[in-house]
Amino acid sequence: MKHLKTALTHYPVADSIKNRWSPRSFSGEPITNDNLNTILEAATWSFSAINEQPWRYVAAQKGTPLFDQLFDTLAAGNKPWNKQASAFVVSLAKTTFADGITPNGSAQHDVGAANMLLTLQANSMDIYTHLMGGFDRAKVAALLQLEADIVPVVIIALGYADEAEKLEEPFKTRELTPRIRKPLSEIIRQTAHSKN
Ligand SMILES: Cc1cc2nc3c(=O)[nH]c(=O)nc-3n(C[C@H](O)[C@H](O)[C@H](O)COP(=O)(O)O)c2cc1C
Repeated sequence: MKHLKTALTHYPVADSIKNRWSPRSFSGEPITNDNLNTILEAATWSFSAINEQPWRYVAAQKGTPLFDQLFDTLAAGNKPWNKQASAFVVSLAKTTFADGITPNGSAQHDVGAANMLLTLQANSMDIYTHLMGGFDRAKVAALLQLEADIVPVVIIALGYADEAEKLEEPFKTRELTPRIRKPLSEIIRQTAHSKN
């Protein structure tokens, strides 16, 4: 049985948001090509500054040489629990506009937004994501032969969630620890509410 970590919210936040979380225990069950493509297409329907769509993706299913090469780029703390991931999606940002020179200051923002849509689509198919910044960016850039204006943002582990008990420590404890958030009072600097 997969572990659920539904957010305990004060206001009635949508279930799709409350139920998203970043597990580390994956079953290893493969994700089909069609499901992977559905998840990637969902990302492309994000908003982006002047509809530039600066997101680029590289996907590798478990059992392929590219999956193993990407696994090797992960930080030590990300390796133990990724052995059971079903796929990696490398999220890349094109940091310039079409002329290849003018910087796109919104690129990282827009890629993050696309990654969230990717995640919500995956969740709707019972597939979970765990984003990772802990990987060797230079190694990934070399491995994928990235152009100078294409930068790695995160590697996204995808898979079907499994039991926390299957993880070794400290990941098992992290899997079971409730999700917490800063209170609204800490992150909202100012609100001008109307009377109603
Ligand atoms: C940009 C980014 C980088 C992250 N890097 C890692 C990572 O390298 N390893 C890891 O275990 N989790 C990583 N995470 C996952 C976060 O720790 C996680 O989203 C956060 O603790 C909130 O938990 P939740 O997603 O379950 O709500 C990363 C998340 C983001 C957005």
